[in-house]
Amino acid sequence: MLDWNGLKNLCAGCTRCGLCETRHYVVFGMGIEDADIMFVGEGPGEQEDLTGLPFVGPAGKLLDDMLSIIDLDRTANCYIANIVKCRPPRNRDPMETEQDACIGYLRNQVALVKPKIIVCLGRIAAMRLIDRDYRITRQHGQWVCRNGVWMTAIYHPSALLRDMSKRPETFDDLLSIREKIREVGAKM
Ligand code: URA
Repeated sequence: MLDWNGLKNLCAGCTRCGLCETRHYVVFGMGIEDADIMFVGEGPGEQEDLTGLPFVGPAGKLLDDMLSIIDLDRTANCYIANIVKCRPPRNRDPMETEQDACIGYLRNQVALVKPKIIVCLGRIAAMRLIDRDYRITRQHGQWVCRNGVWMTAIYHPSALLRDMSKRPETFDDLLSIREKIREVGAKM
């Protein structure tokens, strides 16, 4: 396991998969490095690729609004990362081989942050971190505890931009996250 600097440097020069050939920036992650709550998306989009920061495009704006509903803020009390750290061309789903190449970095980040709660943003992250057969439509908002870490998934903000009808369920999921934050005494 590497420390923050070692890990950031390693990621910045990563050539473990083909995504390195088309990326502008590696999107390492951002937020509070010892936060009790961590959010994990699927991979950078265009704006993220051009800035090196996670969730800064339209989906990121919505994510920030969602977080603020439950008093979360990436500059104050949570950490945000992705399953893959380089943008898949045309925003396609990251391939299994690309996820395999990158997942060790995320595991190292989780080991450094030591979150009490991990929230997967969308089905790709949930399938990778919670259950291979995860069904986001059926299972979003459900909690599992793995190695002392509480985990759940909510719809990806991009899905909520496309389909407004999913927003009420997501509001309930956010309230459930707030409840879990209280239950585990996560620092805010
Ligand atoms: N979508 C993601 O899953 N991650 C980002 O960082 C941006 C958009």
